[in-house]
Amino acid sequence: MSDLEIIIYPLLKKFFLYPGIVFSDGQLWQKQRKFSLQHLRNFGYGKREMEQKVIEESKELIENLKKNCSKPIFMHQAFDVGVLNVLWTMMAGERFALDDARLIKLLKIIHDAFRLIDMSGGLLNQMPFLRYIVPNTCGYTQIVNILTRMWEFLEDTIAEHRKTVCSSYARDLIDAFLHKMNVTEEYDSTFNDEQLLSLCLDLFMAGSETTSNTLGFAILYMLEYPDVQKKVQLEMDDVVGRNRWPNMQDKINLPYTEAVLMEIQRRANVPPLGVAHRATCNTNLYGHLIPEGTIILTSLYSVHMDKDFWRDPMAFKPERFLNEHGKLVVPEWHFIPFGYGKRRCLGESLAKTNYYLFFTAMLHNFHILKVPNDTELSLDGYDGVTISPKPFKAILLSRND
Ligand code: HEM
Repeated sequence: MSDLEIIIYPLLKKFFLYPGIVFSDGQLWQKQRKFSLQHLRNFGYGKREMEQKVIEESKELIENLKKNCSKPIFMHQAFDVGVLNVLWTMMAGERFALDDARLIKLLKIIHDAFRLIDMSGGLLNQMPFLRYIVPNTCGYTQIVNILTRMWEFLEDTIAEHRKTVCSSYARDLIDAFLHKMNVTEEYDSTFNDEQLLSLCLDLFMAGSETTSNTLGFAILYMLEYPDVQKKVQLEMDDVVGRNRWPNMQDKINLPYTEAVLMEIQRRANVPPLGVAHRATCNTNLYGHLIPEGTIILTSLYSVHMDKDFWRDPMAFKPERFLNEHGKLVVPEWHFIPFGYGKRRCLGESLAKTNYYLFFTAMLHNFHILKVPNDTELSLDGYDGVTISPKPFKAILLSRND
């Protein structure tokens, strides 16, 4: 540590607590995580209601896609709005139309933000003073512009809630937070305006890009591996039949489909470095001293691409998640797309429900085909906080014709 860091670090630690949930730690994080989970559950998170909402969203998306059957259409961002709607209903009590111009603009902003930096924070994290010297070149101006637009949107939503909130019941997570801010007994100063805005921003960012990118990759892999697509469809035809929509109860009887979903997550590594955390005390990890305050990045990519365990990690082989009887096997320590331990993804249940129900709905309804002579198609994505599929088109053929 330099002399400057020795002086500055304790001050930073004392006065600079990161708000929100993703980058906070200590008591603030504990309280916010507990509060968010508890209240999201009150609005259906992890329950049958949530499944129903996802099914409704997937039905609307499929109907919309059917209008463009048999034509090449862009698919890399097809799931953005549907996926976000379920979370937004629990957070803010409303959903967006699939063609809502304001939301599409916002989602584009998030995509751009996730491309501009990576989880290590990039150049700005190593040399934060650059923002005063070359703010445009180092990306600082762009990040501030993006965040300002996000904040404006969320501030408007919160202001609208403030005008209409009713003290006797909460319509959504924002209402519940506003109630908590106004509680006089057991008053807790960490429930304040800044924290509400940061919590909304964190959930909005964490909840949209990750799932829609994973679904985008899922479609790409089905284009690249038509035999796998066919096997998933046959398994679903056998278990679900052709006369109803796939649901969460079918999952247990669809081990091949589940193995395909897992293999896509393993191979695509959408959040390659998880989320950056900070060691809150001096820690000894297998003989390595990690000083308090060190920023820790967990390379989920290295776990999923570990040659010693997976043997041929580059190969796309859903069967690696099945045993000789065709039953699903999940190697606990070697498959961790949602992280591990106390900081494990807060949205895992919603993410898994969205991922499974949107994917099965797509394959249940469509044959997904490559556009003839498409030379651009690539399983490589764009780098950033999350890996995202590069823009691609597919042709959807209805399976019911
Ligand atoms: C396929 C989709 C998703 C993937 C792959 C994913 C993955 C992850 C990963 C790897 C982490 C870091 C875990 C760690 O630090 O060890 C994380 C954290 C987090 N995720 Fe997700 N996530 C997904 C969807 C969601 C959704 C839908 C939400 C919205 C509710 C969400 C909210 C969060 C939050 C709030 C955290 C921070 C948790 C904490 O630090 O306590 N995620 N996610």
